Amino acid sequence: MNDLKKNNGGGDIVINLEHIGMIYKTGSINYEALKDINLTIYKGEFFSIMGASGSGKSTMMNILGCLDKPTSGKYFLEGMDVSKLDKDQLAEIRNKKIGFVFQGFNLIQRLSVIENVELPLFYAGIPHKEAVIEAKDALRLVDIDENKENNFPNQISGGEQQRVAIARAIVHNASIIMADEPTGNLDSVRSSELMSFFKKINEERNVTIILVTHEPVVAAFAKKHIIVKDGHIVND
Ligand SMILES: Nc1ncnc2c1ncn2[C@@H]1O[C@H](COP(=O)(O)OP(=O)(O)OP(=O)(O)O)[C@@H](O)[C@H]1O
Ligand SMILES: [Mg+2]
Repeated sequence: MNDLKKNNGGGDIVINLEHIGMIYKTGSINYEALKDINLTIYKGEFFSIMGASGSGKSTMMNILGCLDKPTSGKYFLEGMDVSKLDKDQLAEIRNKKIGFVFQGFNLIQRLSVIENVELPLFYAGIPHKEAVIEAKDALRLVDIDENKENNFPNQISGGEQQRVAIARAIVHNASIIMADEPTGNLDSVRSSELMSFFKKINEERNVTIILVTHEPVVAAFAKKHIIVKDGHIVND
C-alpha cells in the first residue's frame, strides 16, 4: 500500500484509510470482514478493486461510500475524518461528494429517465429549471438521446440503464464515483461500452473512480489496481 502512496506525483489525496477494520456481528458470531486496511487514493485516479467472492470488496466499498461505518480505524475523505460522523452527517457528505453506480441498475422504476437524473439535484435544492438543463447535459455525456429521456427505466436497455445511472452519479458534480460490479448484468460488448464512459468521465472531468469488479477485462480500464483477499489488501 505504501507503494500506492509513493508512485503518484504528490497530487491531492481524496481518500485515506488508516488501519480500517470491519467486524460484522450476527448473533453471537463475529466475522472479521476487513483487517487493517491502509489505502490512499488521489484525485483523478481510476482505481479497481478485485478479489474473490466474499473477500470484502463490497464491505470496503460501503465504507468508502460512507454507507457504512468501520468498526476500527480512521477514514479521511478529502481531509475530513468521516469515521467520527453520525448517520445524517455521512448522508450529507455522500450526497455532496459521491455518486454511486451499482450492479442492479438502481434506478427508480416509477420515475422517467430524466427524472431519475434530476433526483440528486432535487435533493440538493436546485431549482427545477436548472436541474433539467444539468440532467440533459449529463445524459448527453453518456450518449442518451433526448428521445429516450421520458422513457421509464424498463423501456430502455440494460446498458442504457447503467449509462443513466452514471449520468445520475455525475449530475451534481460528485468528485468521486463508486461503482460496485457496474457491468455485472451486461454482456461483454455492453460492458466495454459502459467502461468507456467511465474512462471519459475520469479523463474529461477528473472525477476519481473506484470500481469493484471480478472481470479482468473491466478492471483493465482502471489505471491502478488492488486485490482484496480474506479482508486484506494484497498487491497485484
Ligand atoms: N451484513 C453482514 N453481516 C454479516 N456478514 C456479512 C455482512 N455483509 C457481508 N458479510 C460477510 O463479509 C464477507 C465479505 O463480504 P462482501 O460482501 O464484502 O464480499 P465481496 O468481496 O463483495 O463478495 P462478492 O464478490 O460476492 O460481492 C463475506 O464473508 C460476507 O459473508
Ligand atoms: Mg460484493
